[in-house]
Amino acid sequence: MNSRTENIVEEIQAKCNIVDVIGRHVKLKKTGSNYKGLCPFHNEKTPSFVVSEEKQIFTCFGCGAKGSVIKFVELINNFTFMEAVSNLAEEYNIDTGAGIFDNEKKRSIYYEVNKKAAVFFYRAFRGNMNPALSYMAGRGIDDATLKKFGVGYADAAWDSLYSYLKADGADEDVLTELGLISVGKGKHFDKFRGRVIFPIINTRSKIIGFGGRILGSGEPKYLNSQDSKIYHKKDNLYALNITRQDIAKEEQAILVEGYMDVISLYRHGVKNVTASLGTALTDGQAGILKRYTNNVVIAYDSDAAGRAAALRGMDILRRAGCSVKVLRVKNAKDPDEFVKAYGKESFLKLVSEAVPMIDFKLMVERESVDMDTTEGRLKFLKSAASVIRSLSPVEAEVYIKKTADETGISEGAIRGEVQGGSLAVKRDTIAIRRNPVRSGETQADSDMPEMVEKYFIRLILIDASYLKRTREYEEAFTSPAAYRIYSNMKLLYEEDKEIDYRKLADTLDEYDKKALKDIVENIKIADKEESVFAECARTVTLSALAAREDEVLRMLTLTDEDENRDKAEQLSRELLVIQKKKKEVKGW
Ligand code: UTP
Ligand code: MN
Repeated sequence: MNSRTENIVEEIQAKCNIVDVIGRHVKLKKTGSNYKGLCPFHNEKTPSFVVSEEKQIFTCFGCGAKGSVIKFVELINNFTFMEAVSNLAEEYNIDTGAGIFDNEKKRSIYYEVNKKAAVFFYRAFRGNMNPALSYMAGRGIDDATLKKFGVGYADAAWDSLYSYLKADGADEDVLTELGLISVGKGKHFDKFRGRVIFPIINTRSKIIGFGGRILGSGEPKYLNSQDSKIYHKKDNLYALNITRQDIAKEEQAILVEGYMDVISLYRHGVKNVTASLGTALTDGQAGILKRYTNNVVIAYDSDAAGRAAALRGMDILRRAGCSVKVLRVKNAKDPDEFVKAYGKESFLKLVSEAVPMIDFKLMVERESVDMDTTEGRLKFLKSAASVIRSLSPVEAEVYIKKTADETGISEGAIRGEVQGGSLAVKRDTIAIRRNPVRSGETQADSDMPEMVEKYFIRLILIDASYLKRTREYEEAFTSPAAYRIYSNMKLLYEEDKEIDYRKLADTLDEYDKKALKDIVENIKIADKEESVFAECARTVTLSALAAREDEVLRMLTLTDEDENRDKAEQLSRELLVIQKKKKEVKGW
């Protein structure tokens, strides 16, 4: 903060009372020397939001929000610090001069013009009877909702808006840059003509652009403002100015394609919605959504384009850290049509039935093939494997089982495909393959380390140089306790270059400590270290080979030799290699 800003901030703090500013948004009650109310930043029934007049700060004991009056204005309006300062300064007649506030000032000229245009469209819609009004009524949107979204009307004349704004003193360049007018043959004419107007408003309540829908049929169906100094399509989501609180409250956002999907859902009482406006979802939009919730339900149109857009959007949302589900609109082309035909409850049912993104991806792959033919099943197997391969081992295991259950393809075949066709089985994939709970054992039994694991651990404790050599056989550590002991040994060794038994024990919880003690007391190796290690290595290698052999055999069963000779041949060859290798290892 430079000294000019510092002065302004000081002046704000001197001139404005936090209780007055907050009192406009929150019903405050005096209790002792403080004021109390329901926190506007989270959902609560008993007040934990406290404002101190003396200290000029607010604190919420429920959600932890706290700060000065500037912070409050930032949070409640979703302003940046500068915007909050600028806003309060304006309100309290504090001169901000030129300089750092210049950019915001320049932008404010654009905002002003858009606002005037929006008011113009709005009045045209509200005034005399006009075709937009009956068009929107025909689409089932009630008056309150139309007002809420500031819906307007651009009449069919060439230059209604231009004449109006020009008379008001607007700059032609600004009008052109905002995409409100265009110039041709020395003449100015309105871009939006004969259309219903949807203002695009950001979360700071500024009108940054417009969408205009043709009345009835015609091309283009929607016309949208181009990007400008104040409108960046890729960083904006439609209607968040209205719906962001609902999204935060519901802890879920329903992401739709179009203006009318949002407005129609909202009108039917589904308010936690927003739209990417037909364009492909961007990282910026995902980041913005993530500010309000982690849970996103994609509800795009039911056509192929909508499905493709959903597939692209979900990866972007997932990358932003969102948990993504996909809703499938049934018996209608989009959420608007659906909610209009079947109502709110039916739509909420679709929301509750929305499937996690991985399930959706697998479903799409399944539907794209004919599962009644071997060829179709193999094709599905390949694409499903590439979806599953992107998951963590635990998730992968869940989806391998699920896919097997749903398709009748064996788990082994799916695992084999997930791991790729080669013998060079990767470490992490072996960990997936091995199921720690074997049939007939309880969870507690299988938690306890098995022999090979115990030998490895004992060997490393005797001589830390075995740690390095054990790395190659890490997949041996399948029981959780052994895995944790082994991991901690690695960490200790990295720090100390030795593994001290006491120190190791200190890093473990009671259960693991007991397992470690059991190993040290019961595993006797005495002078046979090398042969014990060789035997362990052999056992691990053999079991990996056996598991792979099992999978290859199952895949061969699944492959129809007549239809997919190449695949069958490749598998048979691999089988031979495995069996040969097994013989070699047995002879170690
Ligand atoms: P749709 O074609 O699905 O429109 O495009 P819609 O919302 O269902 O339209 P209605 O119900 O017939 O009025 C979805 C979104 O894609 C953008 C718009 O944002 C639209 O809401 N779009 C579509 C355009 O920008 N231009 C177009 O010509 C068409
Ligand atoms: Mn649509």
